[in-house]
Amino acid sequence: MKAFRIAHYDAAPVVDDIQMPDVGPDEVLVRVRAASLNPLDVKMQRGFMHAYFPVNFPYTLGTDLAGTIERTGSDVTGWHKGDPVVARLDPTSGGALAEFAVVKAGYLVSAPTSLSLEDAAGIPTAAGTAWQALFEIADFKRGQSVLVHAGAGGVGSFAIQFARAIGARVIATASGTGIDIARRLGADQVIDYRSENFADKLSDIDVVLDTIGGETQQHSFNVLRSGGYLLATSSPPDEALAKAHNVAATFVFHMSDGSRLGKVIDAIDADSLKVLIDRKVPLSGLSGAFEHQASGRARGKIIITTD
Ligand SMILES: NC(=O)c1ccc[n+]([C@@H]2O[C@H](COP(=O)([O-])OP(=O)(O)OC[C@H]3O[C@@H](n4cnc5c(N)ncnc54)[C@H](OP(=O)(O)O)[C@@H]3O)[C@@H](O)[C@H]2O)c1
Repeated sequence: MKAFRIAHYDAAPVVDDIQMPDVGPDEVLVRVRAASLNPLDVKMQRGFMHAYFPVNFPYTLGTDLAGTIERTGSDVTGWHKGDPVVARLDPTSGGALAEFAVVKAGYLVSAPTSLSLEDAAGIPTAAGTAWQALFEIADFKRGQSVLVHAGAGGVGSFAIQFARAIGARVIATASGTGIDIARRLGADQVIDYRSENFADKLSDIDVVLDTIGGETQQHSFNVLRSGGYLLATSSPPDEALAKAHNVAATFVFHMSDGSRLGKVIDAIDADSLKVLIDRKVPLSGLSGAFEHQASGRARGKIIITTD
């Protein structure tokens, strides 16, 4: 089978022909229909995540996939050959960017009924992170307001839709074609971060989802109401600033969890939410797609198909 691997940190990833993997008793072999890229894959390839997710080489990249079950381990119950599934793999094991992937049965979720498997591959990390941040950490509710940075990015595009679906007020930052995209996803207001300072235009916001860090994060503290919540996915929040502004601030650390992913997929199905797709690329075009992900300019999810 083909797999997108690195021989060591910082090595250029290449599509290798490798042996089919063995399946343990509590695991399932999935025939991957599509996988999606995340900034995490780039950080893994560069070795930036070694302290959190140490890997063995050669390492097959990728955490997010959708496909059908090919084979089940001897202890696995409830899943059958041919079932359409979505999963988020543990980054330490990786393996989604391949024609077949070994998945712990506890990570499997039935694929959404409202989306193709290709689109569903874009869900796990981006949607799971937006969901965890808004609803599990900040207890975000109908009637509240949220500022979503990078509204046309992977996490931001899901955060806008989730917040809109519960009847919240959504403000997003974006630039270029991302402005219209964020509006179409449901943002009530979109601020062009390249020409305007969002902090001059906003105040008394309940929650900020900061996917950027740096100055963006610093300015974000100024727009929150007292008692508001800053959720950071890119760099840990400045605790002194949080205290000075009387707000809560947390780094969101997204983990693999089939039960969370199941709730996310139920919500996506129930509200007919969409996966914002930047592009779909076959495995043979993965190197260019990986560079596009690394550029930080993707408009939503980059989907890798195995056809
Ligand atoms: N901690 C965790 O568990 C966790 C989980 C998921 C993601 N993350 C992190 O969260 C970050 C976002 O992830 P993602 O998947 O959403 O990334 P992404 O899809 O690559 O985000 C790309 C988007 O960011 C926008 N952007 C770049 N700079 C911006 C700025 N200063 N203000 C507003 N928008 C800006 C780009 O728009 P333009 O082209 O218009 O600039 C582009 O549309 C990454 O650092 C990722 O590693 C962390």
